[in-house]
Amino acid sequence: MDNFIVHSLLLISLLLLLYGAARVFYSIWWKPRRLARRLNLQGIKGTPYRPLIGDMKELVKLISEAWSKPINLNHQIVQRVDPFTLNNVQKYGKISICWSGTRPRLIIKDTELMKEVLSNKQGHFSKPPLNPLILILTRGLTTLEGEKWATRRRLINPAFHLERLKEMLPAFSTSCSMMIERWKNMASPQGTGDMDVWPELQNLTSDVISRAAFGSSYEDGKRIFELQRELIVLVIEAMQTLYIPGFRFIPTKKNQRRKKLNSKIKSMVRNVIERKEHTMSIGQSKVDDLIGLLLQSNKDNQMTTEDVIEECRQFYLAGQETTSSWLTWTLIVLAMHPDWQEKAREEVLQICGKNEPNFEDITHFKIITMILYEVLRLYPPVIALYQHTNNETKIGDISLPAGVDVTLPFLLNNHDPELWGDDVEEFKPERFSEGVSKASKDQLAFFPFGWGPRTCIGQNFATMEAKMTLATILQHFSFRLSPSYIHAPYTVMTLQPQHGAHITLHGLQVVS
Ligand code: HEM
Repeated sequence: MDNFIVHSLLLISLLLLLYGAARVFYSIWWKPRRLARRLNLQGIKGTPYRPLIGDMKELVKLISEAWSKPINLNHQIVQRVDPFTLNNVQKYGKISICWSGTRPRLIIKDTELMKEVLSNKQGHFSKPPLNPLILILTRGLTTLEGEKWATRRRLINPAFHLERLKEMLPAFSTSCSMMIERWKNMASPQGTGDMDVWPELQNLTSDVISRAAFGSSYEDGKRIFELQRELIVLVIEAMQTLYIPGFRFIPTKKNQRRKKLNSKIKSMVRNVIERKEHTMSIGQSKVDDLIGLLLQSNKDNQMTTEDVIEECRQFYLAGQETTSSWLTWTLIVLAMHPDWQEKAREEVLQICGKNEPNFEDITHFKIITMILYEVLRLYPPVIALYQHTNNETKIGDISLPAGVDVTLPFLLNNHDPELWGDDVEEFKPERFSEGVSKASKDQLAFFPFGWGPRTCIGQNFATMEAKMTLATILQHFSFRLSPSYIHAPYTVMTLQPQHGAHITLHGLQVVS
């Protein structure tokens, strides 16, 4: 009998071992090769599959090389910022394959197909499976799919209507004025000063979101977002090391700090929400901030307090660094092109004179708008979007099996002479003089805020903030690149200046 049990156990162990081995073989060998064959048979070429690591080694090698040295002062930035995708497209064509680990990744550098993916008419695309660490930062709109996403998007939308944003403009203006005052105080008695504007503009966009989201609880909001910022840095750090499933639960010092920050942020936002709910219920609070607007459109309680907390954190994650990246590159580019800086300043002074720009003024800026678009083209804060096929699907003539990642490389499109002409690498805001649709050869090749149902909900917010900030800076300062500026765009979530954005400011006497 004992023998029988021992043999049975041995047999079960053997079967389990065989099953495990078969699963490993299937996922790291058979499945990737089968998916690659399906794509290759349609004439799509790319890098060969290397078990487990995919193209990681090559990617790290190219990026380390590119990011180790700055580039000349021009706008040819693709080779530095995203050398791996560029290499792949140059070698294998507009539609090519590379590998993120065991998953094939299709790079689609074709405007029509990119829009088809983002339109997602059949609903077969979703965001790629997320690193669980990202979910510590937010479980808001960007991380949701299907019905849950649609309901949430419907509830959040009203908070971003232009009319609502109009009411938030004074908050934007206050943040701007505070920054300008700080810059004036930092300047020499002659009104000149060297400054790294990247942290300054990050501060500004944090301040704007705190005011816009938290209104009268702005001080709490600022503290909450400071903690969120610390958490983001810790999460990025963890994401840059090898991902080991379950490691985040081990109580290391950093894991404990992440956990502590997370619960502190949540409880602080919860307090603000409860206070807001209370004052709204007794009619003592004006609904003019994002939290109030979310609570107002959530009358049927389709969102829980937890959901509202996650959306607040989401606003910061999606809207803070993107907008500061946009503004920073705008100042750098205008410092490189003093003629356009002067044209922009003339427009601002003509429309607003000495006054703070108001909503009407902002809608009349033409040159400022063209400049901001051209900067978004050359230096898009989001350089690519990523999708994943959940089911077998078709785009154009291509059949995509389930389980394929997709990269849509905005940056490459924005620097493509076929779409923009031979002067693609030049800063020419006049391309946008008749709007976005006439700027490129292919109508609508430009969608820095995404496309389709998941297009950026904060586009108007960011645009208004960027116009207000740029106009105010131009009223008070002229600027050029500082001798210590090093031109080195690179990406950490967004497109950033690797060695800062040092410019020399000269105070202007135009505004008292
Ligand atoms: C220059 C500034 C900005 C850029 C370039 C930008 C870009 C984008 C892009 C490309 C997407 C689409 C992502 C995808 O399809 O996967 C997106 C989505 C989103 N953005 Fe922005 N964004 C900016 C500012 C903002 C601001 C200021 C906010 C909020 C205050 C915001 C909130 C969001 C949210 C919540 C989504 C998710 C929409 C959804 O999944 O339905 N963004 N953004």
